[in-house]
Amino acid sequence: MQDYDLIIRNGTTVTEKIKQKQDVGIKYGKIVTLGEIPEKGIREIDAAGKLVLPGGIDAHCHIEQKSSSGIMTADDFYSGSVSAAYGGTTTLLPFAAQHRGQSLREVVDDYMACAKPKSVIDYGFHLIISDASDAIIGQELPAMIEDGITSFKIYMTYDDLKLDDYEILNVLAAARREQAMVMIHAENHDVIRWITEKLLDQGKGAPRYHAIAHARIAEKEATHRAISLAELLDTPMLIVHVSSEAALNEIRRAQERGLKIYGETCPQYLFLTIDDLDKDGMDGAMFCCSPPPRDKSSQEAIWEGLIDGSFTVFSSDHAPYRFDSSGKLAAGPTPTFDKIANGVPGLEIRMPLLFSEGVQTGRMDIHRFVEVTATNAAKTYGLYPRKGTIAIGSDADLAIWDTEKQVEITAEKIHDNMDYTPYEGMIANGWPVTVINRGRIVIEDEELKVERGSGEYLRRERPEAAKPLGKLPPEMDPEKNFGAEFI
Ligand code: URP
Ligand code: ZN
Ligand code: ZN
Repeated sequence: MQDYDLIIRNGTTVTEKIKQKQDVGIKYGKIVTLGEIPEKGIREIDAAGKLVLPGGIDAHCHIEQKSSSGIMTADDFYSGSVSAAYGGTTTLLPFAAQHRGQSLREVVDDYMACAKPKSVIDYGFHLIISDASDAIIGQELPAMIEDGITSFKIYMTYDDLKLDDYEILNVLAAARREQAMVMIHAENHDVIRWITEKLLDQGKGAPRYHAIAHARIAEKEATHRAISLAELLDTPMLIVHVSSEAALNEIRRAQERGLKIYGETCPQYLFLTIDDLDKDGMDGAMFCCSPPPRDKSSQEAIWEGLIDGSFTVFSSDHAPYRFDSSGKLAAGPTPTFDKIANGVPGLEIRMPLLFSEGVQTGRMDIHRFVEVTATNAAKTYGLYPRKGTIAIGSDADLAIWDTEKQVEITAEKIHDNMDYTPYEGMIANGWPVTVINRGRIVIEDEELKVERGSGEYLRRERPEAAKPLGKLPPEMDPEKNFGAEFI
């Protein structure tokens, strides 16, 4: 005879593989029973007619983070985590961003101190590594990975963040030794810099030129190069925020050749286009992010990639800068596009808009939705099966979706600390009405039910997805060639 803290009755649970009408019994924050439950729970929720999905994992977001030019995101760990929870997300993996000269330990301690008293849902961190010196890569990074921060992002662009190919190889070699997941921002820095200079020389500084400067070819070339470097050292890698068909096809080709290359895309590449950057006055600044939204045919290609399995994860890349002097307009009321803080908000709408436009329209299978919004992120970043699924022994992280509920997206309704949403006026068909993290009801009846700081820090395993294939390309084969033992 089992006793339960919480029972969710009569709902239809959906995992990456199975859809089933069954009750969910929860004890001490874990799922302990799936099936018909005769006993009574201390608390019960009737989910008849609703879908019970794994709580979402947003594996790419910037919270309480200073951009490389020193602009602070509008959301801290309280407003960010609350907004995520309202949209059905129960785990956040934001970045702990190293600025050059900082030790990784110091960086993580700082972010930890910000998140611990504020986050209402569980969280972990990816590192951002901007200083690839021997001390950082050889000593500090392995120590952080050992401590459970088993993924990190590196950049091929932005003056203060970019690593050159030599440094990237050093980082990849360390990730291979430590079995950590490398995430990479793949855009060719010099192509962007060169086009930017030419545009500005011609007086073309309006927001829409941001999308011209961040050319598709810059993304495609860098994606190809990043994959080549990863292949050389047999190191798994995830290309973040992919915006264009050309970059997606580089990922597909690598996957077809059996390489462990993963891709991520985000709402802005499904729901926005370059036309949004061309709005009146400075309004286009609200849509400036890197890489930028492209055209309608790119949107279609990105949808295809999400549906056909080419993309592994769907993240928000929430990078919230308000449309005022604290954010987008920090460089003045009419900055040229290169001075506009990059990024768009999206924590709360990430899952509802994909559910609405993907699942509800019949375009995307519900199991695929669960995979790209939750399960695959858990697998990719060392949280599976604790997070990202509905199984006995897993954390009771669940979102109960009312498929009939219609919500008009407006900045006023969204719970982040932003003064705009790029998705103003869009209608979401279906919404997660009850959101549960480790058995705690976080959102119910449109209200937040938990205290600030009640989310828990997640120490993560080394991801299976980051395990090298063990098959080096011929030129690196130690059997045939001298020198490969340095990897
Ligand atoms: O424009 C974007 N995506 N801003 C956030 C920073 C990044 O590179 O992810
Ligand atoms: Zn990036
Ligand atoms: Zn980002």
